[in-house]
Amino acid sequence: MKICMVCLGNICRSPAAEGIFKKKFPHWIIDSAGTSAWHIGQPPDKRSIEVCQKHGVDISLQRARQITAKDGEKFDLLLAMDRQNIDDLYHIIDQKYHPKIHLIDHHEVNDPYYSASDGFEIMFQQLENATNRWKDTPV
Ligand code: 4NP
Repeated sequence: MKICMVCLGNICRSPAAEGIFKKKFPHWIIDSAGTSAWHIGQPPDKRSIEVCQKHGVDISLQRARQITAKDGEKFDLLLAMDRQNIDDLYHIIDQKYHPKIHLIDHHEVNDPYYSASDGFEIMFQQLENATNRWKDTPV
């Protein structure tokens, strides 16, 4: 299974999703990317690194990148954090790969960037919970 986690900046939600899913599914190939170019080359937000560290997930070595059309071909699933991400992906990814695009959870994962630090804990718990939704995905 090859999954690319997608959010807006690739510094808060999708790096955490990448780290959590890598730990839970070590035999899967997991990557992450942002729909924007805003933070290319940057490490994850300090608050995301810290909440993951607290739960035994190291995301500190990740660096942000922007999603490209090629990712539609390369990955089996593109898991988005919110509906805006999905909308943006529909414009970037070729239509024939649109069935690979899904919300990672039943509900959107809210952007914690402008929230207090408890927003990052809520994000972590939601992402960890979301692993249950994908654990029986045929490889
Ligand atoms: P992310 O969060 O999409 O979860 O990485 C954000 C990071 C940065 C910004 C917005 C959301 N920003 O406006 O720079």
